[in-house]
Amino acid sequence: MEWRGAEAVVRKTRFLGREVVVKERIKKAYRNEVLDKKLRKERTRSEAKLLHKAKIAGVRTPIVFEVNDFSIVLEFIKGIRPSPQEISKEAAVALAKLHHHNIIHGDFTPANFLISEDFYVIDFGLGFVSSALEDKAMDVFTLLKSGIEESVFWKYYDYDKERVKRRVEKIKERVRYAF
Ligand SMILES: Nc1ncnc2c1ncn2[C@@H]1O[C@H](COP(=O)(O)OP(=O)(O)O)[C@@H](O)[C@H]1O
Ligand SMILES: [Mg+2]
Repeated sequence: MEWRGAEAVVRKTRFLGREVVVKERIKKAYRNEVLDKKLRKERTRSEAKLLHKAKIAGVRTPIVFEVNDFSIVLEFIKGIRPSPQEISKEAAVALAKLHHHNIIHGDFTPANFLISEDFYVIDFGLGFVSSALEDKAMDVFTLLKSGIEESVFWKYYDYDKERVKRRVEKIKERVRYAF
């Protein structure tokens, strides 16, 4: 298996007898080489840190086995990408836990969830730490756009619900006016 995204290549392989994936951030030819290396290193380290932080927050993420300059070795999750409707509850519970710990995922959509015996959140490549309401509301907005059941989401999103909800409504208005 090999997955080629805009920023990274993900390959399935074996590491110390285990099934793993290696996620490697690829070179961007249009960027200055020194800057490109610096950015890829930073994103790689930051993604590994966030995967670990999320675990501490109580969200299932792949185990990080190794962090290199431009790649991380992750536990292979034998799972499938869920449809939005079937994980409205799980996504809400996981996102609230992340937000309680000021972890912003940055791309919180079903493309970055895996279902096996549990609900896994992957791909913290655009993640960061922030306590800002706006950043949390953007995570929620991204998820709602992906086709999740909104009423179920709000039932289980147990983090500063009223304030986040109001901010999400503001973002929706902003987006409507922008087009
Ligand atoms: N730990 C993992 N176990 C199994 N599959 C994975 C794992 N990590 C990534 N993948 C697969 O590779 C794809 C791309 O990984 P992802 O981290 O989302 O990279 P990108 O930043 O390119 O979106 C995922 O959508 C998933 O199908
Ligand atoms: Mg992804």
